Amino acid sequence: MNASVLHVEQLDTAYGQTQILRGVSFEVRPREIVAILGRNGAGKTTLLRSIMGLTPARSGLVQFKAADITRLPTYEIAALGISARALRRMPTLLRGSSSAPTP
Ligand SMILES: Nc1ncnc2c1ncn2[C@@H]1O[C@H](COP(=O)(O)OP(=O)(O)OP(=O)(O)O)[C@@H](O)[C@H]1O
Ligand SMILES: [Mg+2]
Repeated sequence: MNASVLHVEQLDTAYGQTQILRGVSFEVRPREIVAILGRNGAGKTTLLRSIMGLTPARSGLVQFKAADITRLPTYEIAALGISARALRRMPTLLRGSSSAPTP
């Protein structure tokens, strides 16, 4: 069984004819924090959009707690507890502050 919380495998995503993600694979295991680094325009936001189903991947696999969420609509993915917004709140979360996140 796959013990990863998030498992991303061979993700390909394009905007029209322009392919942005090519074979992106990574794992997030329990209690891990994984940072995605890349220059401007490398595809970080596109990767999060693909995981969230906002810009669905052309091919590849996204699994959350061993369930295939690659083709789920965004509202179902969000209902599982996955949110790109939470990433923006990371500094707040790490400080343990209960103050409202910046937009
Ligand atoms: N809606 C879109 N239609 C066409 N191309 C897009 C679209 N959104 C982004 N792109 C292109 O996809 C590529 C990846 O963009 P993306 O926003 O994912 O990069 P990023 O790593 O998040 O960049 P940044 O560090 O500036 O936030 C860029 O070349 C960008 O111009
Ligand atoms: Mg971005």
